[in-house]
Amino acid sequence: MTISKFLPSEYTQALTSKSVSYASPSNIALIKYWGKQSVQIPKNPSVSFTLNTCKTTTTLHYEKRETFEDDFEVKVVLDGKHKPGFEAKIHQFFSRIVTYLPFVKDYTFVIDTSNSFPHSSGIASSASGLSAIALCLMDMEREMQPSIDDQYFIQKASFIARLGSGSGCRSLEGPLVVWGEHQDIKGSSDLFGISYPYEVHENFEDYQDAILLVDQGEKQVSSTVGHNLMHNHPFAPSRFDQANENILKLIEILKSGDLDAFVHLVESEALTLHAMMLTSTPYFILMKPNTLKIIDEIWEFRRETSIPVCFTLDAGANVHVLFPKKYKEEVQEFIKSTLSSYCQDKRYIFDNVGIGAIKL
Ligand code: DP6
Repeated sequence: MTISKFLPSEYTQALTSKSVSYASPSNIALIKYWGKQSVQIPKNPSVSFTLNTCKTTTTLHYEKRETFEDDFEVKVVLDGKHKPGFEAKIHQFFSRIVTYLPFVKDYTFVIDTSNSFPHSSGIASSASGLSAIALCLMDMEREMQPSIDDQYFIQKASFIARLGSGSGCRSLEGPLVVWGEHQDIKGSSDLFGISYPYEVHENFEDYQDAILLVDQGEKQVSSTVGHNLMHNHPFAPSRFDQANENILKLIEILKSGDLDAFVHLVESEALTLHAMMLTSTPYFILMKPNTLKIIDEIWEFRRETSIPVCFTLDAGANVHVLFPKKYKEEVQEFIKSTLSSYCQDKRYIFDNVGIGAIKL
């Protein structure tokens, strides 16, 4: 698979001004992406659950420019307020995608966006945000080239989202997405995410994710800085091998429905991600004392009840609590009565696995 597939052909239709809206969810990795090379190529394949209620809703307004300009013109509005601070990131994104969507220079854009989760929650909005923008831009391309079919549309949207946020390329479809080439996953690619192509046991249907907001501040380590820590990291080669092996284990687990094996694999992936940060130069501790207290409580609850609930982590202190739907009542009660006291302002979000982005 080469990138030439995503270069545009001659557009057949003219497009002046209009707007388009998409809602795109966040996702949570089971096998983690940590380490990349230029440009936005992952060092190992990853697999994620697409979320449902944690999402970004974006309306892209566009208007054809009168004259040819050699720069981009974008205004970002978040929750109704102009946010000039976010525009540099969009300019960088546009400069990465202009080869594939050259019309981004020909329009002035207003990106009007809002997140279903609070901005200060510590939940990264880059995956949902960039994938929503990618879809809006692809919708523009399809207006100008109506022969684009659904498969190309979704693949190129994921390819474009990846250039803004690696994990963003896993937000378009659901319930499980693979990004990164793996020899045993047919169709997998470093360039875009694909819907997980193999059998998934009913135990994983409508899987639940409760996000415990332990630390709602700004990210301590940006994802770019974080991924760069894997360059020259003494354990990087073994970590990349391990991720590939863990994907093989996950394929078996998803097929058999072995929840005990799932719990151990997912927790081990989360702790390995943090182990990479603990052992990099410079090193970081991104967990907070309450992250560890929550992990301890989850382990105790699991021992006492035999309910296969587990945790996973992103590059931060918040905890994702994953569990099968059939234990929803017991686990939600446990979160309310016990785990919420370790969250900042007792805040948590109950989410579940979803099917991906939708056009509004
Ligand atoms: C720890 O997708 O945020 O959440 O490609 O630089 O935008 P960029 O990084 P990003 O990295 C996410 C890393 C992770 C693990 C994962 O989601 O796989």
